[in-house]
Amino acid sequence: MATVFPSLTLGIFDSGVGGLSLLRRLLDVAPPPWKSVIYLADLQHFPYGPRSAEEVRRFALAGTERLAAAGAGLVAIACHTASSSGVREGLVRTSVPVVDIIGPGSRLVSELAARHAPERIIVLGTEGTVRRRVWERALRQAGYRGPITGWACPFLASIIEEGRNGDILRRAVLAATDGLRSGRGSAQANPDIVVLGCTHYPFAARTIEEVLRTEVLGRPVRVVDPAEALASDLVARARALEGMAGPSGEGTRVVERSGGLPVEVRFLTTGRASYLAERAGQLLADVDKTGPYRLRLDEVQEVTFPDSPV
Ligand code: DGL
Repeated sequence: MATVFPSLTLGIFDSGVGGLSLLRRLLDVAPPPWKSVIYLADLQHFPYGPRSAEEVRRFALAGTERLAAAGAGLVAIACHTASSSGVREGLVRTSVPVVDIIGPGSRLVSELAARHAPERIIVLGTEGTVRRRVWERALRQAGYRGPITGWACPFLASIIEEGRNGDILRRAVLAATDGLRSGRGSAQANPDIVVLGCTHYPFAARTIEEVLRTEVLGRPVRVVDPAEALASDLVARARALEGMAGPSGEGTRVVERSGGLPVEVRFLTTGRASYLAERAGQLLADVDKTGPYRLRLDEVQEVTFPDSPV
């Protein structure tokens, strides 16, 4: 069998730094089934949460095409708010294949719920994601039949985007989830699974889990990050696009890590390059510098979308 190297560039799109929670997972994938990765943060239009589906859809399309122009052959819409803006319904027609986070995420959550039935699910997300009820529809499609509640957490993504932590973050999480206390409301009380339905929330996962356990629910709850499922899905798609051998050893080609050549991770933003470089540096600080990935935070590029000059 011949040994060939990956040629695929993977694009990742998010409104801000939230999608770095997906990128962080992908940086643990070795050997990488891609040649390079490009991350695009649409900081000029952050936050997406309060915006209309039409507007967010326009940004998701512009972002995907910007990534394609930069060489991406597969694009991950990491952002739940963008994924719920019509991407899943095929309303965004793009020149490269696109994978949204809600599809793979809902299959993972549905599987988890089935293993421990009966399970009640709460999806935490931005106003837009919750209002559009796309997570509910996707979970039903994935076969989940139990109770689902979408729970909007306005401002929480912005607090995390700004890098707040400690007591400020804790109080923001409490304010956002306080209405889930047992006794208040009905179906939403007593969830078994809490879905982090916004890419920013995994960066506050420990605080969210702790606040729910100690203050809001008074018991442990399973907190799930759908980026786990999107990461696996992207690896499988990349391997398929590259014609790599499957786990059974079938396939005509085997792809190995390019001999010593690192996988470059480049960053683009519609906002300020220095801001993205600083925040990404903080959020990805634990990445192994001797691993196969090279984060090019020294040269973050500022880009514009066609109809929104910076
Ligand atoms: N990170 C985005 C998401 O996953 C939301 C943040 C925003 O409001 O732009 O939904």
